[in-house]
Formats: sequence, C-alpha cells, structure tokens
Amino acid sequence: MGRIKFNGVLLLMVLQIFLVTTTTGNETCESDQIMKEQCHIHTYKTVKPLLDYIRQVRNELKQGETKENQISKLNSDLMEKYHEIVRIHETFMKEAALLNEYKNKVIKGNNDLQLCQNKVDKSESEISSQQNIILKLGKQLSINYKSTNLENCQFQLKSLNSRLIKKDENIKGFSEIIKNNTEHQKTLELELEKSKSILIKHEQDIQLCRSEMNKLNSTSENIREEQKKIQLQLNESETKLIDKVKENQLCQSKLDKLTPTTCISFRENTGVHQLNVSGIGLFNVLCDSQLAGPGWIVIQQRVGGNENFNRDWATYRKGFGSFESDFFLGLEKIHRITSLQRFELYIHLVAENGSTYNVRYDDFKISDEDNGYALSLSKFNKTIIGDGMIYSGNMKFSTFDHDNDKNDYVNCADIHKNGWWYAYGFDCPLNAPYTYLRWCDDRYTSLKEVKMLIRPKEAMTK
Ligand SMILES: *[C@@H]1O[C@H](CO)[C@@H](O)[C@H](O)[C@H]1NC(C)=O
Ligand SMILES: *[C@@H]1O[C@H](CO)[C@@H](O)[C@H](O)[C@H]1NC(C)=O
Ligand SMILES: *[C@@H]1O[C@H](CO)[C@@H](O)[C@H](O)[C@H]1NC(C)=O
Ligand SMILES: *[C@@H]1O[C@H](CO)[C@@H](O)[C@H](O)[C@H]1NC(C)=O
Ligand SMILES: *[C@@H]1O[C@H](CO)[C@@H](O)[C@H](O)[C@H]1NC(C)=O
Ligand SMILES: *[C@@H]1O[C@H](CO)[C@@H](O)[C@H](O)[C@H]1NC(C)=O
Repeated sequence: MGRIKFNGVLLLMVLQIFLVTTTTGNETCESDQIMKEQCHIHTYKTVKPLLDYIRQVRNELKQGETKENQISKLNSDLMEKYHEIVRIHETFMKEAALLNEYKNKVIKGNNDLQLCQNKVDKSESEISSQQNIILKLGKQLSINYKSTNLENCQFQLKSLNSRLIKKDENIKGFSEIIKNNTEHQKTLELELEKSKSILIKHEQDIQLCRSEMNKLNSTSENIREEQKKIQLQLNESETKLIDKVKENQLCQSKLDKLTPTTCISFRENTGVHQLNVSGIGLFNVLCDSQLAGPGWIVIQQRVGGNENFNRDWATYRKGFGSFESDFFLGLEKIHRITSLQRFELYIHLVAENGSTYNVRYDDFKISDEDNGYALSLSKFNKTIIGDGMIYSGNMKFSTFDHDNDKNDYVNCADIHKNGWWYAYGFDCPLNAPYTYLRWCDDRYTSLKEVKMLIRPKEAMTK
C-alpha cells in the first residue's frame, strides 16, 4: 500500500511538472532536483510514452501552425484533467494523513495492548500463583478436616465404647441383683414355709385352747348359774331389808312429827321451824336445805355484821341474834340436840374476794354446861382449805366472864371480844367481831360470810 501511495504521489508530481512546462514553457523539474532524479529513476518508463507523444506533437506544431488550436484545446482538456487529478491528489493526501493518523493510533493501540497484555500476563501469573496457594491450602484444609473428623469419630467411638462398657457393667450389676433377689426370694419362701408351719402349729394350739375354753365355759356357766341363784336370794333379802328400813323411817317420821328434834323432818323446806327437844321443849331453828342438801340446822350465822358477838356466858348459853341476819343458836340447845344422836358439822365460808369454801367435820358434839360446853370434833375432812378449828377440839367454851381457856395469863375471850372454844388464843374464832372475821389454816382468809350447820349423821345415808 505504501508503495502504491508513493508511486501515485510520484506520478502526480511528474505529471504536474510536465504539464507546467508544456503549458507555460517555464515549468520544469528543475524546482525539485531530488524529485527529478526520482522521476528519472522510477517513473520515467511510465511517463516516457507520453513525453514521446508530446515531442511528436511539438514536432508537428513546428511543422504546422494550424494545429495550434487543436493543441490549445487539448491543453485545456489537459488542464481540466490536471485539476481533477489535483483534487484527487488532495483527497489522496488527506486520506494518507488520516491513514497515518490511524497508523499511529494503531501503533499506540498496539503498545497499549502490549501493556495490557503484560498486565494481564502479570495478573494471570499472580492468579495462578494464588490458585496454587489456594490449592495447597485446600489440600491442607481437606487434610485437617479429615483429621478432625477422624478425631471426632474416634472420640465418639471411645465414648460409645465406654458407654457400652458401662452398660455391660450395669447389666452385670442388674443380673447380680436379680440373682440376689431370686436368692432372697428363695430364702423368703423358706421363711414363709417356716411361718406357715408355725401358723399351722399356732392354729392347732388355738384349737386346743378353744376346746379347753369351751370346757371352762361350761364350768363357768355352771358357776354363773349358781351366782345367779345367790344373786336372786340376795336381792330378795335386800328388798326385805329395804322394806324394813322404810317401815323404820315411817315410824321415825311419825315420831318426828310428834316431836321433831332435827330439821330432817322438814326436808327441803328452808326456813324457820320448831323443834321439840327434851330438856328444853319447843324452840325455833333455821333449817337449811340449799347449801349441802336437806335437813341442816343452822347453829351460827354471820352474814352482815349486824350483831354484837361480845356477849356474856348467859347470853351464849341462851343464844342471840336474828335468823334473818347474824345469830348464835345457844350452847344449851346445841348441847341438847347433839346429845340425842350423832351429828356432823358443815361450815360454809365466803371469802372477802367472793370465793366460797366448804369445810366438813364428820362428828360434832357439845358437852353439858358442867363440862363447859366442851367441843368434841372429829378429824377434819380435808378440802381445798385447811383446818381452821384445829385448836378448838376438846376445848371448853369461854366468854369474857367465863375464862375456860388454857392460857394462864389472859382471858382469850376478853381479848378477842367474843365467846369461843379457846385453847391459848391463837385461834381465829368464827364469833370474832365482823371486821376481824377470818379462817385460819396455813394462810389467813378474810371472810364476809360464815354459816355453821349440823345434821344427824344418819341423814347422810339417805
Ligand atoms: C519563466 O521563468 C522566468 C524565471 O523563472 C520568469 O521570470 C518568467 O516570467 C517565466 N515566464 C512565463 C511566461 O511565465
Ligand atoms: C448380693 O449379695 C451379696 C451377699 O449376699 C452382696 O455382697 C452383694 O453386694 C449383693 N449384690 C447386690 C448387687 O446387691
Ligand atoms: C363362752 O360363753 C360365752 C357366754 O357365756 C360366749 O359368749 C362365748 O362365745 C363362749 N365361748 C366359747 C369358746 O364357747
Ligand atoms: C315434846 O316432847 C315431849 C317428849 O320429849 C312430849 O311429851 C311433848 O308432848 C312434846 N310436845 C309437843 C308440843 O309435841
Ligand atoms: C380469792 O383469793 C384466793 C387466795 O387468796 C384465791 O385462791 C382465789 O382465787 C380468789 N378468788 C377470787 C374470786 O378472786
Ligand atoms: C369427807 O366428806 C365426804 C363428802 O364431802 C365424804 O364422802 C367422805 O366420806 C368424808 N370422809 C371421811 C373420812 O369421813
């Protein structure tokens, strides 16, 4: 191509020179000696026929001027063609320049491509080296992975193994337990057998016992029948006795109605009643059936402090006070009543703080005046409160005008300002002035109420 272009350029140059010289007679190839040389060398062969033709024409011109017009015409044609050729040349030149540019660009592009190729090569080598590394790593990794897997497997296998061993041991233990249990069962069965035999023996014993018991039962039944007979006889005699007692009681009540010597005849009727006691005759008493059952004669009462108990012998002998409040029945009456039969004494006490106490003596009696109305008292029947008349037993009665006490120095009745069965004066007399009224056992209980009651001992059995 370069060659074609070069030849074209040369041809155009030669043509131009030739045309100029031919038209003006002034144009030669002398303007460019180098080109001329080149013309001679390369294009002479192609242009020669033309030149030859031109020379021929010239020669013909010289031969005739008539042909001048033809020549000028040809000349103008030639000019036209020349211009055309010049235009073509210009476009050629332009294209050549463009081509050159392209070529440069191509060269540059080639360089760039080379650079790129280099880079690509470099990258490829790097990639390949990295691939190698990756491959290596992959291999290592796969190796590692495989080894860890293997370890895991081994570990699991080991644990499974150990579990298996454990299970085996467990199974062994279980089988031993089972063996033990079966042995134990056997021994138990043996024991059971033994127990059974013992039981059978026991049952036999029981059977024996039963038969013996039956024998005994029959004999005991005989005995029972005899007992029943005896019981019947006993019952009969008891009813007979009861009948007799009833008869006696009827007699007594009839007698009592004629001459009531106690409150028994008045039964549940609390209040003032008349007694007929030998040696005194008729007199009133206060009967009480509320404190301790029916038939009690009240011989002394302190319920309000309205009565003076600092009285002389004669007054105590006769008795004083009112049945409605405080009174003393009288020593002679009490003596007469208690000399007819056995009497018991009941003392009802109400403490200052409201607590009540009941005291009982199973025997109570007062002797005659010649013996100083001496008190005989049985042993104290223990209650929650102690014996407060411990010093009075077997003591004679004393008043300020009758000193019968054991104290040689003073008259206790005078000092204590009341009549009582004094010993040495350490007593707490129930006839004491109301404000000094107390019951003395191991402690001193201040009292606001006192009642002394007597009743025939036989009434107890009723
Ligand atoms: C021919 O060439 C000479 C010098 O190169 C120039 O002075 C002259 O004007 C030219 N003649 C024509 C007809 O152009
Ligand atoms: C089985 O019994 C024997 C003795 O009778 C005892 O030594 C052993 O520990 C028992 N085994 C079990 C598992 O109970
Ligand atoms: C013995 O007698 C009593 C009644 O008398 C009766 O309940 C009991 O069952 C009798 N025992 C025997 C062993 O017969
Ligand atoms: C009282 O009793 C006596 C006998 O001890 C008797 O003679 C008398 O008639 C009685 N008096 C009355 C009123 O019952
Ligand atoms: C009264 O006093 C006595 C002792 O002093 C006591 O045991 C009793 O509980 C008292 N009674 C009342 C009702 O407070
Ligand atoms: C004491 O009194 C009670 C009734 O309170 C009586 O049952 C008992 O027999 C008496 N004790 C004596 C020794 O008399």
